[in-house]
Amino acid sequence: MELKDKVAVITGAGKGIGRETALLFAQKGAKVVVVDFDPQAGKDVVEEITTSGGEAIFCSVNVTDQAQVQEMVGRTLESFGRIDVLINNAGITQDGMLTKLSIEQWNAVIGVNLTGVFNCTQAVVPIMIQQGSGSIANASSVVGVYGNVGQTNYSASKAGVIGLTKSWAKELGKKGIRTNAVAPGFIVTDMTAKVPEKVLQLMKDKTPLGRLGTARDVALAYLFLASDTSSFINGAVIPVDGGLVT
Ligand code: CAA
Repeated sequence: MELKDKVAVITGAGKGIGRETALLFAQKGAKVVVVDFDPQAGKDVVEEITTSGGEAIFCSVNVTDQAQVQEMVGRTLESFGRIDVLINNAGITQDGMLTKLSIEQWNAVIGVNLTGVFNCTQAVVPIMIQQGSGSIANASSVVGVYGNVGQTNYSASKAGVIGLTKSWAKELGKKGIRTNAVAPGFIVTDMTAKVPEKVLQLMKDKTPLGRLGTARDVALAYLFLASDTSSFINGAVIPVDGGLVT
C-alpha cells in the first residue's frame, strides 16, 4: 500500500475530487483528515472510510480562517501524532465576465483558492519541518496556466498557486518537504455542472482524449505526488487534462 501509515490532510474532501482522493488514500493505507466546510458531506466521507475498515476524522474548517485551520492541525496531531501529506484541494468558482465581476466575487475566490492554500500550508509546515519530511500537493488548474473566458478571479488564484508551489519547492525542499501541484482540465464534478453545456462541449472537442476528466483521474495524480514513488519530484505542475492544452 503506497500510503501505509501516512497521515494525510485533504482540504475540500467532502465532495468531488477531494472526496475521491480521501477514499483512494484510505484504501492505500493512509490515515485521512477530511477537511471541509460542509459538515454533512465531510462526515459522510469519514463514515464511508471507517465502514470499509479505514481510519479518518472530520474537521469542519473554512480554510480562509487561520484559527480554524490551526485548530484542525491540533486535532490531527491529537488523533494521529504527525502529518505526512497535505493536499490543498479546496477551491471554489464564481465565474463572470470581467466587466461584470464584483469585488466580492474576486475576494471570495482568491480567499479560498489562494489564501486558503497559504493558511493550511503555513499551519502544517512546522510539523513537517520537525519531522524532516512531508509532501504537499496543491490544486492549480489548466486555467491558471492558459486563462479562460469568464474566470478572471479563478485563473488568477490558480496561477498564484503555481507561484507559491514553486517558491515552497525551493524554500522547503532542503528540509525534506516536496511541494507540487496538479493542473486539472475540465473534470466532471459539481463545479463543472454549473458550466454551460456549450462550453463543456467545446472543451471536450478540444481534448485529444475526447472526454472530460473524472475525479479519480485527479485523485490518482495526487496519490502519485503524496507517495514515495515521486520522491525526487519537487516543484512540478502536473497537467491532468487529457491533453487539452498541449
Ligand atoms: N470558453 C469560450 N467561450 C466562452 C467561455 C469559455 N470558457 N465561457 C463563456 N464563453 C462565451 C459564451 O459562449 C458567449 O459567447 P457568445 O457571445 O458567442 O454566445 C460569451 O462568452 C459570453 O458568455 P455568456 O453569454 O454566458 O455571458 P454571461 O455573462 O451570461 O455568463 C459566464 C458568463 C458566467 C462566464 C458563463 O459564460 C460561464 O459560466 N462560462 C463558463 C466559464 C467556465 O468555463 N468555467 C469553468 C468552471 S470549471 C473550473 O473552473 C475547473 C477548472 O479548473 C477548469
